[in-house]
Amino acid sequence: MEMIKFKIDGIELEVPKGTTVLEAARSVGIKIPSLCYLKDVNKSSSCRVCVVEVGPRLIASCTLAAENGMDIKTNTAKVREARRTVVELLLSNHKRECTTCVRSENCELQALAKDLNIRDIRFEGEKTTCPIDDSSTSVVRDQEKCVLCGRCISTCGNVQSVHAIGFANRGFSTVVAPAYHKPLSDTVCINCGQCIMACPVGALHEKENIKDVWNAIADPDKYVVVQTAPAVRVA
Ligand code: FES
Repeated sequence: MEMIKFKIDGIELEVPKGTTVLEAARSVGIKIPSLCYLKDVNKSSSCRVCVVEVGPRLIASCTLAAENGMDIKTNTAKVREARRTVVELLLSNHKRECTTCVRSENCELQALAKDLNIRDIRFEGEKTTCPIDDSSTSVVRDQEKCVLCGRCISTCGNVQSVHAIGFANRGFSTVVAPAYHKPLSDTVCINCGQCIMACPVGALHEKENIKDVWNAIADPDKYVVVQTAPAVRVA
């Protein structure tokens, strides 16, 4: 196997050819934050939270293959400022109802903002507005919290082979949605919930009565699920 020798933060590393800078850094305990990256599932390189300094350039480390002689810096002032800007921009178009969000304290965007000590958002402007889609039996979609990382799309399509959701529109209007903006209940979605597991924020979450839904599927004689109210156990 061909091996590559390079440096990260002054540490000499040797890794198999094809290893990304992000994975190489993590293998020796160097923390590089990430958001859109999901190991073996999503490498969209869209969020830029994982940027590192390579010579005069800032490059996303999640898709940057290590090369012989590279000298990578992961925590300079320039890198930290770039990451702050990226996270602030994401927050500037994010429905910031963190205290009541179902993912509060378990949200990767919230954790990044905390790690980067973000207290003010320098950018304010137009925001994505989209109705919540709660048509599905199990999954609630709130596009106003979506960070467009694509982790749900890769999981639904490449892992589960369902392809119920994808990117729609372009530019600032880009959203994650079923084809033709249909409600999720009108798609091939199998209610597996893997998109929820992949979502780093609160854009996808379980319906509150999901456990009752699964009980009803497993034992329809014992449970009745009422869509507009909590499920009622009848036996
Ligand atoms: Fe690398 Fe998003 S984690 S670009």
